[in-house]
Amino acid sequence: MAVGLTTRMSPADAAHIAEAARCLRAGGLLAFPTETVYGLGADAANPRAVAGIYEAKGRPSFNPLIAHVADLAAARRIARFDARALALAEAFWPGPLTLVLPKAADCPVADLATAGLDTIAIRVPAHPVAHALLQAFGGAVVAPSANISGHVSPTTAAHVLSDLDGRIDMILDGGPVEVGVESTIVGCFDTPMLLRPGGLPREAIERVLGQSLANPPDEPASDTNQPLAPGMLASHYAPRTRVRLLAEAVNPGEALLAFGSAPLPGIEAAAAVLNLSEQGDLGEAATNLFGYLRALDAAAIASGASCIAVMPVPNHGLGEAINDRLRRAAV
Ligand code: TXA
Ligand code: MG
Repeated sequence: MAVGLTTRMSPADAAHIAEAARCLRAGGLLAFPTETVYGLGADAANPRAVAGIYEAKGRPSFNPLIAHVADLAAARRIARFDARALALAEAFWPGPLTLVLPKAADCPVADLATAGLDTIAIRVPAHPVAHALLQAFGGAVVAPSANISGHVSPTTAAHVLSDLDGRIDMILDGGPVEVGVESTIVGCFDTPMLLRPGGLPREAIERVLGQSLANPPDEPASDTNQPLAPGMLASHYAPRTRVRLLAEAVNPGEALLAFGSAPLPGIEAAAAVLNLSEQGDLGEAATNLFGYLRALDAAAIASGASCIAVMPVPNHGLGEAINDRLRRAAV
């Protein structure tokens, strides 16, 4: 376990981005901002560094990682793109879309990072700090969300520090992230498949493809026992406090995660209230989601509240990813 490291928190300026690239080259573990959530990065081609990510996060090692690269040209060195994958990459990169593609023959990414699969998940992040870091480093950086496995994903550098202090080398603080939920993952299989709803709405992807995205089967493929998106564990993004969905009223002493401006019976007796978006804006709600879950969890623990009640959120656009994360938080 990589406990006992001194974790440096640094501003994401040019000097520290250069230092971060050196840290990656030396096999270090580094948290950095992307537009979706903070990632915990390591050199994708260095198996020991990749193993360090699994240790620092306490992550089950069957769960493969996303390779982050600076641009499409770099992506084409590690995976094979067909016409459909190219169309998606050209429409949405850089941005919150991850493509699962067949590995290139000479793919340099460590087997441990892809959990022995012959496919690889790739994304080109849009955040200027992530982009500068990837350019300075030159190679692919594997990066899961920078939290202890199963916890709420980090949307600020302070969230990263509270989970991973002493377990990683460095955190680049680029301020709060913009999107707030992880990238959308599309499997570029014979039938393109939405493996994880995320920061790019399904509808936008379907418009470019000119067809609808399939949903993954509920059961893992029985021949290999390998789930299509192995990280989609039922319980994930979990606060310590119980989460109650589709609340139509607040019970005395519950904390409330609200959405929209409709009045809610019992709200005056809530232990704490945060509103994802008073205006009912799903983008604003996605940005606030993980930070508010962390804050309400802390408030509930401090006040002895037994439960975080969550108001319904519409399921279109970014609402699909928000509801996916809320369901996993409630398991
Ligand atoms: O927005 C994001 O995607 C963030 C930032 C840091 O880029 N990263 C992120 O990574 O969410 P992580 O490790 O928390 O989630 C990666 C997901 C997991 O569900 C994993 O199982 C899936 O990607 N995945 C990775 N490689 C795969 C593959 N070859 N086939 C299917 N799913 C894969
Ligand atoms: Mg994660």
